Amino acid sequence: MSPSETKSETPDSFINADDSRKYWSAIDPDVNGMLGGYPTVSRVDLRGSRSFLAKVGLGRTKGVKAVKRALEGGAGIGRITQGLLLDVAETVDVVEPVAKFTAVLEGKPGVGRVHNVGLEEWQPEDGVQYDLVWNQWCLGHLTDQQLEEYLRRCSSVLSVGDDGKTKGVIVVKENLSTSEEDLFDSEDSSVTRQDETFRRIFEAAGLRIIKTEIQHGFPHELYPVRMYALKPKEN
Ligand SMILES: C[S@@+](CC[C@H](N)C(=O)[O-])C[C@H]1O[C@@H](n2cnc3c(N)ncnc32)[C@H](O)[C@@H]1O
Repeated sequence: MSPSETKSETPDSFINADDSRKYWSAIDPDVNGMLGGYPTVSRVDLRGSRSFLAKVGLGRTKGVKAVKRALEGGAGIGRITQGLLLDVAETVDVVEPVAKFTAVLEGKPGVGRVHNVGLEEWQPEDGVQYDLVWNQWCLGHLTDQQLEEYLRRCSSVLSVGDDGKTKGVIVVKENLSTSEEDLFDSEDSSVTRQDETFRRIFEAAGLRIIKTEIQHGFPHELYPVRMYALKPKEN
């Protein structure tokens, strides 16, 4: 193999969408399945996310929902849509390639469009704008290039305030690699990225971090999890 071929074999270059769809199609449509055998993590996860959202001004105050329309990327069975997003948003659209996961969401009050495609295939609908786009524990299924392009599409449909500035926020909540490199996992065909890889991709997608926090309270054997709230750089 020539040196240039070796160089192109970054961990994300091994991601294969068919392999990850096959993996997820065999997983039970429940919280245990979504969280890889750690269902009890969900409560503390949702609590941390709720507090993070409030800090970026997207909480629910005095019963008023700050978010008109939200999008959840890689939603699975809608653990976050049902456990958090519908509390702060009037409508939540979801993107999830495995249709058996989203079956429970069809017709639920507040659930809008259900797009059964991968995030790399998802295209925003004409005229729809989002105050919040939530992405958690799914972006490892996208290559770095796909992730950059997806984030650009998200950025292009963020809502704009009366002052002409972007009001909408993109949240990324993902595991972080604690090695000095991104790690490919052949079991579900995904990568676990380092913090610096995420920051490089956000920068390349024209986004800046307006707030970031580590999620506390997870079992020590799990990867550290970081939340990033993002907005377009020029705003
Ligand atoms: C670990 S589960 C997390 C589900 C949900 N985000 C949560 O936190 O409960 C990962 C999800 O990513 C989905 N997924 C796999 N490949 C994807 C892709 N290319 N685009 C979007 N979602 C994908 C899987 O089907 C699965 O529902």
